[in-house]
Amino acid sequence: MRKMGIITYRAKLQTMERPLHHTTRRRFIKNTSLFGAGAALSLPHFSFKTSGKTSHAAILGGEPVRKIEWPEWPKWDTQSMDQEMLNVLHGRVWSRAKITEEFEQKWAEMLGAKRCLAVVNGTQALIASLVQFDIGGGDEVIVPPYTFIASVQAILNTGAMPVFADIDRETYQIDPAKIEEKITARTKAIMPVHILGLPADMPAIMEIAKKHNLIVIEDACQAHMAEINHKKAGTLSHAGCFSFQTSKNLPIGEGGAIVSDDEDFMDRCFSYHNYGNPYGSVVGEVGAGTLILGTKIRITEYQSKIGLLQMKNVLEQSELRMQHAAWLNAELSQVPGIIPARLYPHVTRAVYHLYPFRFQSDAFAGLNKTEFIRSLQAEGIPCAPGYTPLNKMPYLRHALSTKNYRKMYPKKMLDYERYMEKNQCPENDILCNEEIVWIPQNVLLAPKKDLGDIVRAVHKISETATAIKSRIK
Ligand SMILES: Cc1ncc(COP(=O)(O)O)c(C=O)c1O
Repeated sequence: MRKMGIITYRAKLQTMERPLHHTTRRRFIKNTSLFGAGAALSLPHFSFKTSGKTSHAAILGGEPVRKIEWPEWPKWDTQSMDQEMLNVLHGRVWSRAKITEEFEQKWAEMLGAKRCLAVVNGTQALIASLVQFDIGGGDEVIVPPYTFIASVQAILNTGAMPVFADIDRETYQIDPAKIEEKITARTKAIMPVHILGLPADMPAIMEIAKKHNLIVIEDACQAHMAEINHKKAGTLSHAGCFSFQTSKNLPIGEGGAIVSDDEDFMDRCFSYHNYGNPYGSVVGEVGAGTLILGTKIRITEYQSKIGLLQMKNVLEQSELRMQHAAWLNAELSQVPGIIPARLYPHVTRAVYHLYPFRFQSDAFAGLNKTEFIRSLQAEGIPCAPGYTPLNKMPYLRHALSTKNYRKMYPKKMLDYERYMEKNQCPENDILCNEEIVWIPQNVLLAPKKDLGDIVRAVHKISETATAIKSRIK
């Protein structure tokens, strides 16, 4: 058999393990980032009533509402960006140097944070932050189940134990009311995740953390420039972590960052990301060499340059996504059985890394979530079912059975059935399995008149749901 590269092999494994409709987020973004030449379809009246031939659902053979493509992602302006990139390559300084420093300074400035450290990806940013707050074997970290797998894998990679606190189904975020009951003598940290670019309830979370003397690390990997009370997501706690993977609102391809106002912590992170070599307050005797346990997770100059070029657009694009999402929320909430995301009152900017809404089967003649999504896709609207419950996947059984975990925890804590029982998150199960539907963020960058197609398509499915239910295979 031909040898498969590890990445191809993993991708293949993922496809084999998942039911077809549970497309991975990245594959979904790739498949649905359609290319937008001529994407401005004129819609003179915003009348979403469908009639005659067009009301025949596309999934049953009718005309799709939308036949043209959506804006492409990531965006790249050849004219203004090509030469700048070539200059970096021709300069032949490719490892971390001045451009990375500039990227860090600018990102810290944009967020209003004292310091920023760029690293290879968001997962490593989370691991470095946990480790530099001395979180590891024997500790517990509270995390929501509604997140990307990286949040939980980061905790496991430090040797700490993830403890799942259920979500609020209206906001999809960790529910502060469910956090306190999960705190034990082992709890060291909370990792709220601003999932889908919608901010978590940070004021409530920080209050709990303060009361119990816990570290808070924000997973802001999907929340570039999101705001709570005009402060940026990632700057409301001890440290914030970002991802610049291609699908993200600030795309580099791969990349990540840690931000914090804690200078000593940031010095330790820097040292750790460069093999533990001296940096800032991490000092030893002259000539003593490497000082702390570290690794190498440095970003390159050409990645930082892409980041700097993309950073110029991030605010404008975020504003546009927020405006368009607000418009969609108002329109879609008119359709019986569609419930847009609720934002916490203190949210001053939500950046919609994905545009989500909840779908209620009862209002759609009993169509289930998969059938609804297939119907919407057939109408030319990119959409996907999103995450499956993370607190129920096999990686947890594996982690609890590893040699390190067996050495670090009492047997009782490693009993998988007991762990599963203690980490039930019924609200998250309903959200994932029955309700939430995602539309990718590049769609929100289309002209507003194009977004009318989404509303028309949802109305159309609403009107034809009984026919779809009776005939869908
Ligand atoms: C919520 C969340 N956390 C962590 C990560 C990890 O980031 P990365 O893919 O850059 O490692 C991602 C993105 O993939 C994410 O969406």
